[in-house]
Amino acid sequence: MRTRILFVGLSVALLGLVAWAAFKDSDNRGYIAIQTQYLKDYPSSDFNVQVQQLFPSFPQATIEGDTYRVERCISCHVPDIGTIGPVEAAKRLSEGFLKYEPNAKQLAAEYHLTLIHPAYVSATGSNYPPSMSYQQYGPSGFTSFTYTPYTPPGAPAAAPVTVQQPGPLPSFLNPSTNYGTSGTPTGELGIDQIGCIVCHNGNRLGLDQTDAHQNLVVNPEYSFTEGAQLYYLNCARCHGGQGEGGAGPPLNNQDRLGYFNEDYYYRCIEYGFTDFEHYGSIMPNWGGIAADYNPVTNPPGPGVVENTSPVLTQTQINVLVQFIRHWEDYSTLP
Ligand code: HEC
Ligand code: HEC
Ligand code: HEC
Repeated sequence: MRTRILFVGLSVALLGLVAWAAFKDSDNRGYIAIQTQYLKDYPSSDFNVQVQQLFPSFPQATIEGDTYRVERCISCHVPDIGTIGPVEAAKRLSEGFLKYEPNAKQLAAEYHLTLIHPAYVSATGSNYPPSMSYQQYGPSGFTSFTYTPYTPPGAPAAAPVTVQQPGPLPSFLNPSTNYGTSGTPTGELGIDQIGCIVCHNGNRLGLDQTDAHQNLVVNPEYSFTEGAQLYYLNCARCHGGQGEGGAGPPLNNQDRLGYFNEDYYYRCIEYGFTDFEHYGSIMPNWGGIAADYNPVTNPPGPGVVENTSPVLTQTQINVLVQFIRHWEDYSTLP
């Protein structure tokens, strides 16, 4: 009798726990509401609202065979990409963005968006089907720059260095050799196979909109052309031609960059040595001077350049943050 009561009691407790977990689970999946909206917008779509996970199919995206670099952007954006295909999905990505964003026009202008989303990576790019040019944005196509490394006070001047900036598209997306679903080279890769994070570098584990959008690189083209120029003009002499570091720390370590959010990097560039995290360093302040900075208690590093008025605008700093986020190293774990 005692054990039976205990058994029933425990069973009820277990059921309660399961119900609570199920409730929390559906409650925490912010994308379900957006999928429901998607179904209203595209009523002919056919997909299971509860289960939408899409993983990149190229071998570099997998870790130890069956574990993936997480790809959840698709849960909200185009959950039926598998049935509608990359061209239609790319069209919906651009249209959907305009549909619900009240400031879409302003944002598009500010970030120089074309509102034409690439559906593929192809050898030279094209307008239809829209594709991103591997020749232009792959690792060897991008412009070459020259810069002069930083010279510490009193040291002999360093010689100028010429570098070739690798584009945002990693080498394994080369359309002449890249991988399809089978793992064998098949030519052009669509955005579904590439996986959103290869170009967008968002928070790989984020399940809700805010988390997934952390560290988002919206527009590789814009941040690459303008970002690269700003970087070589102002930053390369201390942080290296490929972000490998020098007088300043490396900026091409995504394991470190991904750990801090964009705000941290924004403030570092805006306030440099005048903000508390970087007191006493030689990192210049490219925007303002932090409100609580006191040069007497926290003197700047040797030979530092203090900018009394902003050298870079807020938009330029944002472009730089996006630009340095492109140094993604796919040989390390997320
Ligand atoms: C929980 C749902 C959800 C997830 C997950 C999600 N998004 Fe979004 N995303 C949205 C919505 C809704 C918008 C519409 C614009 C807005 O209000 O921000 C949007 C807008 C965007 C934009 C337009 C520009 C901007 O910054 O607002 C980009 C780019 C984008 N998402 C990319 C991604 C990528 C890449 C991922 C995965 C790392 C992702 N999204 C994951 C819901 C989501
Ligand atoms: C081949 C690189 C690449 C891939 C892969 C990629 N994007 Fe984009 N995405 C871009 C570029 C470039 C833009 C900026 C387009 C522009 O100029 O408007 C962009 C813009 C966007 C926007 C803003 C709307 C727009 O058209 O400007 C959203 C939303 C978005 N992407 C979501 C996604 C999602 C979700 C995925 C995965 C299905 C994805 N992207 C995969 C390159 C890519
Ligand atoms: C005179 C040399 C110098 C120049 C020029 C310079 N930096 Fe720095 N930067 C540094 C130093 C030194 C640090 C380290 C500060 C610290 O750790 O306290 C740093 C730190 C940073 C960090 C934080 C890195 C981290 O891992 O915490 C970022 C981001 C950064 N710089 C971006 C830039 C950008 C963008 C530019 C160009 C606009 C730039 N820097 C120009 C010297 C420089």
